[in-house]
Amino acid sequence: MLELAGVDAAYGHAKVLHDVSLDLKEGQMAFVIGRNGAGKTTLLRTIMGLLKPRKGSIRYFDNEVTGLSPEDLYQKGFRFVAQDKRVFSNLTVRENIELAAYSNREPLRRALDKVIEIYPKLESFLDIKAGKLSGGQRQILLVGQALVGDPKLLLIDEPTQGLAAVVVDDIARILGSLKGRVSALIVEQNLPLMCQLADKVFALKEGKISMIVSGGSEIANTGSFDEFM
Ligand SMILES: Nc1ncnc2c1ncn2[C@@H]1O[C@H](COP(=O)(O)OP(=O)(O)OP(=O)(O)O)[C@@H](O)[C@H]1O
Ligand SMILES: [Mg+2]
Repeated sequence: MLELAGVDAAYGHAKVLHDVSLDLKEGQMAFVIGRNGAGKTTLLRTIMGLLKPRKGSIRYFDNEVTGLSPEDLYQKGFRFVAQDKRVFSNLTVRENIELAAYSNREPLRRALDKVIEIYPKLESFLDIKAGKLSGGQRQILLVGQALVGDPKLLLIDEPTQGLAAVVVDDIARILGSLKGRVSALIVEQNLPLMCQLADKVFALKEGKISMIVSGGSEIANTGSFDEFM
């Protein structure tokens, strides 16, 4: 469903991604790993259209989408959950979800149900200001919002970064429940979680794809990824 071929990306003169090629099949949950500064966030931002590739192509269901705007890609079902976990702090949780419902012309009730389905506890927080949520609850809200409308491809940047172990378990369970229902490319540094969920792993090193591993049993061995952590 998603195919990158020979993609380069840069910030000004600083080239970050070098000749990145990867593909994701419909319904697959794939992970991107790599050390700090390897270019993981840049890869997701490039796929989401937030950064235009300098070279190469991005195809989505056999259509060229290289250079399309984030808004156009959002309409096609691309959803990016950024690393900074930013929500509208002064709005309530319900109002945050309402914004996603509005962008998708989806009835609010249906949007709320989608978010509550992945994390029932959020129902009791609907009228709380989103700024009062814990980091983990905010992350879950953002993933829930990404499910509003008709998402086809989730791009999630470090969903468990900086979170307490209990919340990491919640997020692992939520991602597990999404597996197979929607395609996903997730940046994650938590190796056990990644190995438990991944259909495919792309390891980035200095902006280049340095290893691709597919299939559950190949991925089960966390030790083979140590050099990228
Ligand atoms: N807006 C920017 N302008 C200039 N350089 C940037 C910008 N964002 C990132 N970079 C540089 O691009 C490189 C890759 O950054 P990127 O954020 O993609 O890495 P990452 O793998 O996501 O790292 P981390 O694990 O810290 O999140 C780094 O050298 C970084 O300093
Ligand atoms: Mg990053």
